[in-house]
Amino acid sequence: MRTTPWWRDAVVYEIYVRSFADASGDGIGDLAGVRDRLPYLAELGVDAIWLTPFYPSPMADGGYDVADYRDVDPLFGSLDDFDALVEEAHAHGLRLIVDIVPNHSSSAHPWFQKALASTRGSEERERYMFRDAPAPAADGGRREPNNWMSTFGGPAWTQVADGQWYLHLFAPQQPDFNWRNPEVREEFLDILRFWLARGVDGFRIDVAMGLIKDAALPDTEPGFTSRSPIWSQPEVHDIYREWRRVLDSFPGTRVAIGEVWTDSAEDLALYVRPDELHQSFNFAWLEAPWSATAFRKVIDDTLRSMTSPTWVLSNHDVVRHPTRYGEGASDPSMGLARARAALLAMLALPGSAYLYQGEELGLPEVRDLPPESRQDPIFFRSNGELLGRDGCRVPLPWSGTAPPYGFGPGGSWLPQPADWAGLTAERQAADPISTLSFYRRALATRREVVGTLPGGITWVEAPGDALSFRRGPLTCVINCGVEAVALPPHDRVLIASGPVDGTDLPPDTAVWLLTD
Ligand code: NOJ
Repeated sequence: MRTTPWWRDAVVYEIYVRSFADASGDGIGDLAGVRDRLPYLAELGVDAIWLTPFYPSPMADGGYDVADYRDVDPLFGSLDDFDALVEEAHAHGLRLIVDIVPNHSSSAHPWFQKALASTRGSEERERYMFRDAPAPAADGGRREPNNWMSTFGGPAWTQVADGQWYLHLFAPQQPDFNWRNPEVREEFLDILRFWLARGVDGFRIDVAMGLIKDAALPDTEPGFTSRSPIWSQPEVHDIYREWRRVLDSFPGTRVAIGEVWTDSAEDLALYVRPDELHQSFNFAWLEAPWSATAFRKVIDDTLRSMTSPTWVLSNHDVVRHPTRYGEGASDPSMGLARARAALLAMLALPGSAYLYQGEELGLPEVRDLPPESRQDPIFFRSNGELLGRDGCRVPLPWSGTAPPYGFGPGGSWLPQPADWAGLTAERQAADPISTLSFYRRALATRREVVGTLPGGITWVEAPGDALSFRRGPLTCVINCGVEAVALPPHDRVLIASGPVDGTDLPPDTAVWLLTD
């Protein structure tokens, strides 16, 4: 009988709702589209799905600008669609996690609209971070309350009609809440209860390290550090202790996973103390370059500091990993080979794995989207200097030979490349060596063995730039070098990420070996 809670070794599949599957025909993915594809997800072999925000929103940041935390945007469906999705996901044996966006709301949220209509110092303004700025310097220097910059570029402050400024760590349409205000805290506890009562199995917490800012709002040094007046202030942990009590008060096992960017595994571990969040994303794994040394360091740091490790290679905010790993490579297929190998390494490690839709199809980043179709605020706030994140958000190719490749009956909100016919789920399902078939095999194999493996790993000496570790009878070897390496003694090859002849492991390939 299973004794570990489900989330500790789950494979969670991220659904960027607007790009997954469109049932309504408006070119934008929706909840009914997700429902239609539940059999595909169950067959893929994941344990849970995480839905990105589907709440009413002006969509200034793809829905991470929430105008109503207790409803569904008509673009994505209705609360009835949501309830049906929860029920059907559960019937397929899939848990369902929703995204909660507590750092900021949309500027269209009724609270922010009331704040704008109220005066400085009012209760309405106290729900957000309104401040006055010192008089401008005689030389006309800076006027904002401090030097903080928006993550999307430009100052993190916008001035309103009466001269006050409000803080937005992201776009101006995303005003930051004041988390020292008890009303904000109560409101979010209630929002958590709302979705828990509808049956969700957990929450992915957006910008989890940003809610509390240093009360004095002092200037910061440029660049990101996790110990800064902006991020990871100690009081943020009180919030998650409170949230944990709410999660634990519901029947079943409900979880919270934090989107926490830090510069050390130790800082990250603070968020997952036993009375706080269950897990946080391990972005160090995603940020590691293709190198055995780099992978080994991340694995060591993670296993040393995290009681519930997680692994992630891609999400809707970063360049897709086959493209990342292929950067500068002479042979474009190298990136995909490495991506498949990295998946196998990650699935062999203790903990849970987060997948991003489309990685099971080996989708590359789309770099050549026409500027007029781009929607990411990063693109606009940098005047097109930074491409932003649209390239990893291109709607999925499901079937057929031409766009929209079965994404929906009515086109797709971002154009899909003309050469994706070979990448559709339909085409790959019929091909035993496709990336989709490989993912299905890898997840099925993991499901068979993972419960039987010990929680830790032991490093095994490996030649060249290869990395090898054991978990009980399972040995995983990943070759990050340019020469083939000899496989260690074994009884059986369980699965390989590419062609393996039984004695050597080629470059850019990983393998699971079994010793009986
Ligand atoms: C992180 C989300 O993943 C990203 O897509 C969003 O733009 C920011 N948080 C702001 O909410």
